[in-house]
Amino acid sequence: MISPFTQLFSVVLLVASLLLPVSAIWPAPNSYTAGTSALFLNQNILVTYNGRFMQYNPGYIPWNSDSTQIVTGGVSRALSAIFQDNFVPWMLKGRRQLSEFEPSLQKGQKWLKTLQIVQTSKDTTATFKPLAGEVDESYNLTISAGGDAKLTAVSSTGVLRGLESFVQLFYKHSAGPFHYTPYAPVAIQDSPKFAHRGILIDVARSWFEVSDITRTIDGMAMNKLNVLHVHVTDSQSWPLEIPSMPEVARKGAYRPDLTYSPHEIDYIQRYGVNRGVSVYFEIDMPGHIGSVAESHPELIVAYNEQPYWWWCAEPPCGAFKLNDSRVDDFLGKLFDDLLPRVAPYSAYFHTGGDELNANDSMLDEGIRSNESTVLQPLLQKFIDTQHARVRKAGLTPITWEEIPIDWNVTVGKDVVVQAWLGDESVSTLTGKGHKVIDSNYNFYYLDCGRGQWITQDNGAAYDAFYPFGDWCDPFKNWRLIYSHDPVHNLTAEQAKLVLGGEVAVWAETIDPMNLDTIIWPRAGAAAEAWWSGRIDPATGENRTMLEITPRLAEVRERLVARGIRSSPVQMPFCTQANPADCSYPL
Ligand SMILES: *[C@@H]1O[C@H](CO)[C@@H](O)[C@H](O)[C@H]1NC(C)=O
Ligand SMILES: *[C@@H]1O[C@H](CO)[C@@H](O)[C@H](O)[C@H]1NC(C)=O
Ligand SMILES: *[C@@H]1O[C@H](CO)[C@@H](O)[C@H](O)[C@H]1NC(C)=O
Ligand SMILES: *[C@@H]1O[C@H](CO)[C@@H](O)[C@H](O)[C@H]1NC(C)=O
Ligand SMILES: *[C@@H]1O[C@H](CO)[C@@H](O)[C@H](O)[C@H]1NC(C)=O
Ligand SMILES: *[C@@H]1O[C@H](CO)[C@@H](O)[C@H](O)[C@H]1NC(C)=O
Ligand SMILES: *[C@@H]1O[C@H](CO)[C@@H](O)[C@H](O)[C@H]1NC(C)=O
Repeated sequence: MISPFTQLFSVVLLVASLLLPVSAIWPAPNSYTAGTSALFLNQNILVTYNGRFMQYNPGYIPWNSDSTQIVTGGVSRALSAIFQDNFVPWMLKGRRQLSEFEPSLQKGQKWLKTLQIVQTSKDTTATFKPLAGEVDESYNLTISAGGDAKLTAVSSTGVLRGLESFVQLFYKHSAGPFHYTPYAPVAIQDSPKFAHRGILIDVARSWFEVSDITRTIDGMAMNKLNVLHVHVTDSQSWPLEIPSMPEVARKGAYRPDLTYSPHEIDYIQRYGVNRGVSVYFEIDMPGHIGSVAESHPELIVAYNEQPYWWWCAEPPCGAFKLNDSRVDDFLGKLFDDLLPRVAPYSAYFHTGGDELNANDSMLDEGIRSNESTVLQPLLQKFIDTQHARVRKAGLTPITWEEIPIDWNVTVGKDVVVQAWLGDESVSTLTGKGHKVIDSNYNFYYLDCGRGQWITQDNGAAYDAFYPFGDWCDPFKNWRLIYSHDPVHNLTAEQAKLVLGGEVAVWAETIDPMNLDTIIWPRAGAAAEAWWSGRIDPATGENRTMLEITPRLAEVRERLVARGIRSSPVQMPFCTQANPADCSYPL
């Protein structure tokens, strides 16, 4: 007799095998069909862009934000990803079954002869530094069984997205220097659900090399993420060189040479533009700015004041004086130097605004108050002045949610508000008409759940903190991240105001050694939730974890092949097995 459990289990097995992915395009395209014919690929493929022959030029670096150069770079990187990453998917096929997946090298091979790239509109300046929604990232990709590929897109950014999908169709053969797709004919139509799909990286609490940042951009491009938010200064350190005020970084950096020069900032932003990733910066203020006291003590109150929890969220404290013309002069000089340099490559600039502690102004000889009635008007003026400077440089301000919500500061209609403080925030902010980026810490804080970084003495503190979980415990695993829909429970009117999301990599216990494992594959899970959404358009149903997991495991292996040290999705027993073998049916 078959028990109901066995019956249910065999149904699950059947469904799982029917849903086995044809291949792991990540994030999942809007519409995707594939066949079972093999096509081989070598460097003789004829690539054209709007009719012009395009050379495979490994290592090519565009020197200008120009459509042809950007596409040349994209094509060269795509072919290098296939020919140099040499991804053999042994860990994704049954044990000793790779040869059944791989096409025969004996029979007459068919080759992919052409890749015709057609861009249907001209790029504009906004293509390379878009406001959310300003660039059309859609693309169509077909590969015929006869060996001709066609990639159509409205913008060069769409071409870059399509090339990432193209790469994901190819593998290296285990028996030799052959590269193939087993999926011809292919037809893909694709476009993103959310316009703003980002990662926040905190390079102030820990030091990161430029290469750590560009490697993160590489992973982002592979996952079709398009915005890198660099939290570039904080109370702990100021690694950003400001040539008109060299003392700020020289004294504020952890070590005088652990800084980003204007040339490096320019390099990082261009690196992003070439991959369809906008890099924008945040100077967090008026709190989170203690490091300025190392060079300009007269501008800052409560620097490293103790006990720190009366004055700020984590040491060292430090906030700008809110009613001091010297602060304004400093910011005028800072922005005159910095903003014109970053504005050519991004539409946004973030002025911070989280976690300002009212007590700080008690220590300000010009204010001596922590009353919101005293501080609110000063903060309103402060924000108005800084946002005017940001706009004057041609940039759009972004602020943390406390500024409009906790401090009742009125911000311009153009301002984007970044939400983080929990499940109500996006609803509250959109209810008030704000454009929002969702960074809900219950889902999107990648630093959470790995234990306290604050140290305790023996005794009461030790006992109070035991078992030493951090404030935003638990760890946000990829399934949880995937489950979160930024517009969940919003009206259609509110949902329109949600530009997308950013996962956050706060760096109290993250540095170059663990950066990749913290970000990947979890930012990939967010990437699919933002690009494709949880609903499979083919069925109208939620995608299942049985279908998602092997595809995420595949993109993880491609990240590793690219030199990005992503955490694993599952052990090889599971990645090699039928997904149902590692599932728990209920
Ligand atoms: C992709 O194909 C669809 C259906 O033919 C078409 O409506 C759409 O405009 C195409 N998109 C691009 C970028 O060519
Ligand atoms: C402000 O400081 C007082 C002690 O003077 C403390 O009791 C209070 O919690 C502090 N407020 C905040 C928001 O930290
Ligand atoms: C802010 O500074 C101005 C000019 O120095 C002064 O008139 C005003 O009283 C100050 N406001 C507060 C709240 O201290
Ligand atoms: C303001 O300071 C008083 C006196 O230290 C303290 O009791 C109160 O909690 C503070 N208010 C805030 C908002 O921190
Ligand atoms: C902001 O407004 C709310 C509601 O009117 C009020 O409760 C709160 O105290 C105000 N906060 C500040 C800092 O003015
Ligand atoms: C969304 O949920 C929150 C509580 O979680 C609620 O306050 C709000 O009204 C809900 N919004 C809608 C549009 O249902
Ligand atoms: C998808 O799953 C969520 C619960 O996680 C549920 O609220 C929603 O209704 C499901 N959507 C569909 C189309 O089944």
